[in-house]
Amino acid sequence: LLTATLLATRAPVLLAPAMHTEMWGHPAVQENLAILRRRGVHVVEPDSGRLAGGDMGAGRLAEPARIVEAAARLLVHFGDTPGPGSADLAGVRVLVTAGGTREPIDPVRFIGNRSSGKMGYALAGAAAGRGAAVTLITTVDRPAPPGTEQVRVETAAEMAEAVLSRYAVADVVVMAAAVADFRPKLAAPEKIKKSEGVPEVLLEPTTDILAALGTAKSGQFLVGFAAETASSGRTPYPGQLVQRAASKMVAKRVDLMVANDVSAPDSGFEVDTNRAVIITPGGTAEELPRMTKIELAETIWDRVVRSLREAP
Ligand code: PMT
Repeated sequence: LLTATLLATRAPVLLAPAMHTEMWGHPAVQENLAILRRRGVHVVEPDSGRLAGGDMGAGRLAEPARIVEAAARLLVHFGDTPGPGSADLAGVRVLVTAGGTREPIDPVRFIGNRSSGKMGYALAGAAAGRGAAVTLITTVDRPAPPGTEQVRVETAAEMAEAVLSRYAVADVVVMAAAVADFRPKLAAPEKIKKSEGVPEVLLEPTTDILAALGTAKSGQFLVGFAAETASSGRTPYPGQLVQRAASKMVAKRVDLMVANDVSAPDSGFEVDTNRAVIITPGGTAEELPRMTKIELAETIWDRVVRSLREAP
C-alpha cells in the first residue's frame, strides 16, 4: 500500500528515516537517499542518540515536532503555483456530470443525444489529479477516472436527484452533461408495435438541473456548459455563441460558462477536441483555440482556481 501510494501521489513526499548507525551510514542507503532527493523527495535527517538496540549514534527517528514542522513548511508552499500537476484543488469537493441522458419512450427506445462523456470525464480526471474530492455523475458505461467516485444514472430525473442530493456538501459543480430538455410524458410499458401505426409521443419539460442549482446556491461555484450551433447562424462566430451562452449564464446564475460550438466537426460532441469560449459574469469572453478536451479541462480548472482564490 505504501509503495503504491508513493508511486501514485502528486503530493509532496516527506521522508523521516530511522535505522541503526551502520545502516544509516551505508553507501547503499546514502546513494538511494540522494536519488530520492533528486526526484524531489524531502528528507528530515535522523537525530543522534539512543537507538532501539540500546546503543548510541546517528539514526534515531527525528523528534515528532521536527517532522511536523517540516511537513507544515511544505504545505505552506504546496499549491502556490496553480496548474496541472499541482494540488490547487486539494480539499475542494467537486461534482461533475458527464454524458447524455436517455428518456425512455418504451422499454427499447429512448430520446437521447450524441454526448460521449469525454468532456465530463476529462474534467473529473483533471480535478482529481489536482487534489479535489470528485464525484462523477454519469450516464456513460466507462471506468471512472482514477481517484473519482462514480455514480451511474440514465435519465434527466435520475441525474437531477443525484446532483441535487449531493449539492449541499459540494464546493464546485460542473454541468458538462447534455441533459434532455424534454422527455416523453408517458413511457409505454411494452414495446410500441409498428403494426399499431405511428405513435404520437407527447413531451413534457425535465427539471433544469443547472437552474435549480443556481436558485439553491449557498456558496457553491457553478460551471455551466452551453452547447451552441453558432457557426450556422447569421452573426459570425463567436458573437452569437457568446450572446446565447451569456443569457443562459444569467438565467441559471452560473459563475463560469463554457460555450462550445457543437456544429463544428472538431468541437463539441464525441470528438477528442473542443473549441470553447469561457465567459464570466463580469462580461469577459475568452476565446480559446481548438485544443484537446483534456487541455480544455485543465484550462477550465485554472480559471476556477483563480476565481476561488479571488473570491472574498
Ligand atoms: O460528452 P462529449 O461528447 O464530450 O460532448 C461534450 C458536450 C458537447 C456535451 C459538452 O461540452 C457540453 O456542451 N455540455 C452541455 C450540453 C448542454 O446540455 O448544453 P445546453 O446549452 O443545452 O445547456 C446549458 C447548461 O444547462 C448545461 O450545463 C447543461 O448541463 C445544463 N442543463 C440543461 C438542461 C437541463 N434540463 N438541465 C441542465 O442542467
